[in-house]
Amino acid sequence: MNFPRSTGIVILFALFIVLLSVFGSFSALVNIPSLQLTRTPHASQGTPTFTVGIVEVVQHANPQHGEQLFNTVGCAGCHLQDNGAGPNMNGISGRAATRREGYNAESYLYESITSPNAFVVNEYQAGVMPQNFASVLSQQDVYDIIAYLLTK
Ligand code: HEC
Repeated sequence: MNFPRSTGIVILFALFIVLLSVFGSFSALVNIPSLQLTRTPHASQGTPTFTVGIVEVVQHANPQHGEQLFNTVGCAGCHLQDNGAGPNMNGISGRAATRREGYNAESYLYESITSPNAFVVNEYQAGVMPQNFASVLSQQDVYDIIAYLLTK
C-alpha cells in the first residue's frame, strides 16, 4: 500500500492527541483524592495543625448532639458549677480564644478535650480531666461538643 506522505503525518498527529488526552485524564484522577485526604486527621492524633479548616468544620457540626454528649460522657459532672472539679463552662466561648497564644477558640477547645495536659488552666491541676477522650469520642463527636461549647 502506498499512502502519500501527508497521510502519515496526519495519522501520527492524531495518535499524539489521543495519548495527550489519556494522560491528561489520568493525572486528574490521581490528584482529586489527595486534596481531600489532608482535611481529616483522627481525633486521637491530638491538636490539628490546621486552624482555618477547623473553624469551617465546627460551623457544620451539630451542637444539640454535642450537648447530649456533654451530659452523658462525664463532662457535665466537672464543668457545670463554680466550685466543680473543672472550670465552669459558662462564658467559655469568649474565653477560649484568649487562653493560648496562636490558638483560636476552636483549636483551643479541640486541644483541651483531646490532650488536656497540653495546657493547664490556672489554679487547676494537670491529670484531673480524663486523658482518653480522643479515643472514646469520634472526631465528629469532638467537633459537635466544640459547637455546643461555643454557644455558652
Ligand atoms: C474529672 C473531671 C473532668 C471531666 C470528667 C472533664 N473535665 Fe474538662 N477539665 C477538668 C479540669 C480539672 C480542667 C482544668 C485543668 C486543665 O486545663 O486540664 C479541665 C479543663 C477543660 C477545658 C478548658 C477550660 C478553660 O476554661 O480553658 C475544657 C474546654 C474542658 N475541660 C472540656 C471538657 C469536656 C468537653 C469534657 C467531656 C468530654 C471534660 N472536659 C471532662 C476536669 C474534667
